[in-house]
Amino acid sequence: FGSAGTKIQRNPSFATLNSDDITYFKGVLGEKNVVQDEDRLEFVNADWMHKYKGSSRLLLLPTTTDEVSQILKYCNSRHLAVVPQGGNTGLVGGSVPVFDEVIVSMSSMNNVIDFDEVSGILVCEAGCILENLISFLDNQGFIMPLDLGAKGSCQIGGNVSTNAGGLRLIRYGSLHGTVLGLEAVLANGNVLDMLGTLRKDNTGYDLKHLFIGSEGSLGIVTKVSILTPPKLSSVNIAFLACKDYLSCQRLLLEAKRKLGEILSAFEFLDSEAMDLVLNHLEGIRNPLPPSMHNFYVLIETTGSDEAYDKEKLEAFLLRSMESGLISDGVLAQDINQASSFWRIREGIPEALMRAGPVYKYDLSLPVENMYNLVEDMRVRLAEKAKVVGYGHLGDGNLHLNISAPQYDDMILAKIEPYVYEWTSKHRGSISAEHGLGLMKANKIFYSKSHETVQVMASIKKLLDPNGILNPYKVLPHSLTSY
Ligand code: FAD
Ligand code: MLT
Ligand code: ZN
Repeated sequence: FGSAGTKIQRNPSFATLNSDDITYFKGVLGEKNVVQDEDRLEFVNADWMHKYKGSSRLLLLPTTTDEVSQILKYCNSRHLAVVPQGGNTGLVGGSVPVFDEVIVSMSSMNNVIDFDEVSGILVCEAGCILENLISFLDNQGFIMPLDLGAKGSCQIGGNVSTNAGGLRLIRYGSLHGTVLGLEAVLANGNVLDMLGTLRKDNTGYDLKHLFIGSEGSLGIVTKVSILTPPKLSSVNIAFLACKDYLSCQRLLLEAKRKLGEILSAFEFLDSEAMDLVLNHLEGIRNPLPPSMHNFYVLIETTGSDEAYDKEKLEAFLLRSMESGLISDGVLAQDINQASSFWRIREGIPEALMRAGPVYKYDLSLPVENMYNLVEDMRVRLAEKAKVVGYGHLGDGNLHLNISAPQYDDMILAKIEPYVYEWTSKHRGSISAEHGLGLMKANKIFYSKSHETVQVMASIKKLLDPNGILNPYKVLPHSLTSY
């Protein structure tokens, strides 16, 4: 299991598939939803980055909650390990098998169940693709409270299971706030109906939160109810350049103060990230005249009064220009220009992937010293690799990416544990939004105390006593291989 650098043993307590299992699954799901075709399996065995690769021989495509329940009940009784899969865009190796786990894909559960135009509450199946939900809501005059570069493939169930953050968190908050309810199937097949649609409900422990961000380790999310904001008429996007990181920070503070209620995104990228996008993606150009800009910031405002919002943003930009916080900038004049600005920011992960092997780190850090880590890593790695910094600056979330000519243990040894120790020392989080997956299951102690992790392991044991759900992920192997 060389490519991901994770050397672990298959848990011998798991059974291996036999022909009776296949017969059972065909009986429940029908022939076509039990996939053993090698080409199709190759696709679902590998992650988006082609960094993690399992060797599952079975893909199941349930179409109802009851089918998910029957699958899990059976797998639990047979000790067959399972990996739940959504759009397979996860970045920490969580969505693909490590060995021969059965892949349960949610792709066929993709119906909108209900939408309430008064409250804006959407209820849908977990396999709905985020972009399809965005389009559905657009027709109703609403938007999704989250947006991310993977929207064309990722599913709402995957978003909930990773507690995805994305590009709008600064405005609409995390899924722990916007998800009002969900339905999940436990390892033993029991269905937990927590599909509430209420803003307020303090009747005991709010168990849905256990499934938000638990990366398929506690159950399979089958339905989601989510609060969606109305679509507002005036959206403005500015693409700005800053000469140094301190200016980016000050600009953030100013934006929070002066744009306040209309601020809907504050993203940043450094010049290395910009170069990657320009070199590896087609049809992209830097909207600012070529110059020695070190940082770029994308600010979006969303409000309801076109004239007022524009005036407010223009005044903010003028003041920021005069005070030297921004060295250049351009305001999108139409929707095409606006999406070309977003394409630069959202295209960075794809550009990095095309550039070759990449070590990805997704860190929460105090904004003041976040970029020091990028600079430290440049010194540590010198010519060996390209160090790129970008992310959700408004949320204190840095994406530190190291683009290397090949995956190499010598390079990895320069990065880890240094990055994790640095993050821990600054009381940051080693996973701001991507989760722990396989990549960071054993690194959890850099961000969580032993006592906390022990409680997590007890919850896992309670809900999944045989450990069949997404084994080797999220929690340290020592605590979950029963
Ligand atoms: P998958 O990748 O299929 O699965 C992710 C995890 O959730 C796995 O552990 C899987 O087992 C589990 N899972 C999936 N569906 C279910 C289910 N129904 N029930 C239980 N468990 C399930 N993340 C961010 O937070 N912010 C970003 O801005 C962002 N941008 C991205 C941009 C790109 C180009 C890419 C490739 C990824 C990005 N991601 C981002 C990472 C990724 O976490 C998200 O894309 C997304 O939330 C994953 O959803 P998915 O449906 O693809 O899930
Ligand atoms: C992003 O913000 O672009 C995503 O989280 C993906 C990444 O970190 O590369
Ligand atoms: Zn991100």
